[in-house]
Amino acid sequence: MSSQRKILVTSALPYANGDIHIGHLLEYVQTDIWVRFQKSRGHQCIYVCADDTHGTPVMLRAQKEGKTPEDFIKESHQAHAQDFADCLIGFDNFHSTHSPESKELTQGIYLKLKENGHISSKTINQLFDPEKEMFLPDRFVKGTCPKCGSEDQYGDNCDACGATYSPTELKNPKSAVSGATPVLKESEHFFFDLKGFEGFLREWLGAEGHVQSEVQNKMNEWLDDLRQWDISRDAPYFGWEIPGEKGKYFYVWLDAPIGYMASFKNLCDKRDDLNFDDFWGKNSDAEVYHFIGKDIIYFHTLFWPSVLEGSGYRTPSAVWAHGFVTVNGQKMSKSKGTFIKARTYLNHFRPEFLRYYYAAKLSNRIDDFDLNLEDFVQRVNSDLVGKLVNIASRCAGFITKQFDGKLSDSIIEPELIKEFTEASEELAQHYENRDFGRAVKQIMALADKANAYIANEEPWKLVKNDDTKERAHQVCSLGINMFKILSAYLAPVLPELAGKVQDFLKLDSLNWASAQEVLTGHEINKFKPMMQRIDMKQVEAMIEDSKEDLEAEAKPEAQLDDPIKEEIQFGDFDKIDLRIAKIAKAEHVEGADKLLKLQLDLGNGVTKQVFAGIKAAYDPSTLEGKLTVMVANLAPRKMKFGMSEGMVLAAGPGGKDLWILNPDEGAKPGMRVK
Ligand code: MSP
Ligand code: ZN
Repeated sequence: MSSQRKILVTSALPYANGDIHIGHLLEYVQTDIWVRFQKSRGHQCIYVCADDTHGTPVMLRAQKEGKTPEDFIKESHQAHAQDFADCLIGFDNFHSTHSPESKELTQGIYLKLKENGHISSKTINQLFDPEKEMFLPDRFVKGTCPKCGSEDQYGDNCDACGATYSPTELKNPKSAVSGATPVLKESEHFFFDLKGFEGFLREWLGAEGHVQSEVQNKMNEWLDDLRQWDISRDAPYFGWEIPGEKGKYFYVWLDAPIGYMASFKNLCDKRDDLNFDDFWGKNSDAEVYHFIGKDIIYFHTLFWPSVLEGSGYRTPSAVWAHGFVTVNGQKMSKSKGTFIKARTYLNHFRPEFLRYYYAAKLSNRIDDFDLNLEDFVQRVNSDLVGKLVNIASRCAGFITKQFDGKLSDSIIEPELIKEFTEASEELAQHYENRDFGRAVKQIMALADKANAYIANEEPWKLVKNDDTKERAHQVCSLGINMFKILSAYLAPVLPELAGKVQDFLKLDSLNWASAQEVLTGHEINKFKPMMQRIDMKQVEAMIEDSKEDLEAEAKPEAQLDDPIKEEIQFGDFDKIDLRIAKIAKAEHVEGADKLLKLQLDLGNGVTKQVFAGIKAAYDPSTLEGKLTVMVANLAPRKMKFGMSEGMVLAAGPGGKDLWILNPDEGAKPGMRVK
């Protein structure tokens, strides 16, 4: 094997104000497979990530939940860390941008940029919410599209006609935070001189391998139109204060990628074998790779390399973007139940099934990725259960029962096993190139070969006859060896299965090199089932749960047993004429088992007759002379026992448990209830 490489790998930092979902997981699974592959090859490969905690959305979300931002991000950090662990994402460190390392590095980098002349300031006009006393990010202003007139559009672009504009161009703008009409207000902002890095960026992007070729074309367009980058925000803002500028904070996208460094720094402080400068220093010989989604390419290929260059750090070895997850050919949808959270997925399936499906279809390109749920079930069953694990389950029983749990002393078909071991370098190339789909396809073709060999030899028949029994031993032992090799090749995708295989075969390790070691005369454990088939019913249940998740989210935090009805406008309420009424007369109605007949006196000689369903709760004689509240303008209804000209108000579930409203003595019949 080539000499040991030093590699630092990152996935984009998930926003603290959202749950991890299967869209995110494409990225974390892709990165994790690549990292596990490098580790299994014996390289020093460090995988770090963190929560992206700063910015207005987090601040407002915490406020809404009545928490401090610090408490809020602590809770989401815990939830995210658990989701990742349960999806077998093996970060070496999962840190936070709200950490001492992040503050120190962000402020330090800013001061370096300033010292090197890359920061300037200028006064700009921005929309300000006079009620909340805060400047409004574009997404927090809503109004009428200046191009097509569609209402309720965001401050940066129109969903209806696709126009992009500045929030100050919106007609009838409203703050999405308070509903107030925003006003224009001046403020001093700080800018990073991105334009000054055009030459550097052209060179960096032109160099082989820094970005994918599809990205390179896009970048060339962007490079023609570089602008100064506004890196400051005014208080109130949840983030790091700009040194020397009271009340000014760093825009979250400045400190977010610095979070990669901060997480690594935090890890270095915990581990003796890692040195920060070895990886980030200008003369570092380590490799640094960022895995990201296609929506954040601009930040990672223009801003980030320029910020690093401008502050004296090394730049990334490469930035690798992937496409977006669609489900059954469509955008993930909350109402369709295809916006599936990691936790919801985990409540129904093992993490390795999704990992396998993602691996089987991933390439190194940035096309979108379709998670077809029927295909998912199909592939898991046919490939993992039907092909891979099947090799072991067909062979293991005989080894245990007939051959004392020991593999044969020699290999019966050296040519066949050679084909398996020799696939190693080509497969490694595919993994290295993030062409996981190709690797999986080739591994499954080998699994087909193994199964065909066993089916052809029929060890279950060979084993019955003393003359052929030794051949059965040889065939099954070869089968187990082929299974071991394939498990080693798939270990980066299926780490839990690899662990089970290690136990089953009594191996000290199962890494890439293990594929080259053939087991002879080796004792193994009894085989335990490793994976079960799945079906569409489980998928349907997961979809249902995802819909329920959404309903739970839409509900107010606290919920009455008897839920509050659909919201009405004041005008709707104002139509109801509620009046104080005196119960002049109350009597039983012949033949009615629920109703009492009431004569309600509204004063000025106006009386209304009302049939009220309160017979079980009240003796009529106790009601006479009491005040109550009635709906005076309800259209009269003809009932079986006569006209009912209104309604009395009562509370309670019904039957005996019912209480008519009973205002204080001071109220007078006919008074309006407001
Ligand atoms: N916080 C920023 C990243 C800062 S990195 C310095 C962010 N967070 S995110 O939570 O919105 O997304 C995290 C990663 O998940 C991004 O790379 C994003 O592209 C990816 N994905 C989010 N939704 C996705 C899909 N539906 N499909 C595939 N990837 C998706 O962006
Ligand atoms: Zn429009």
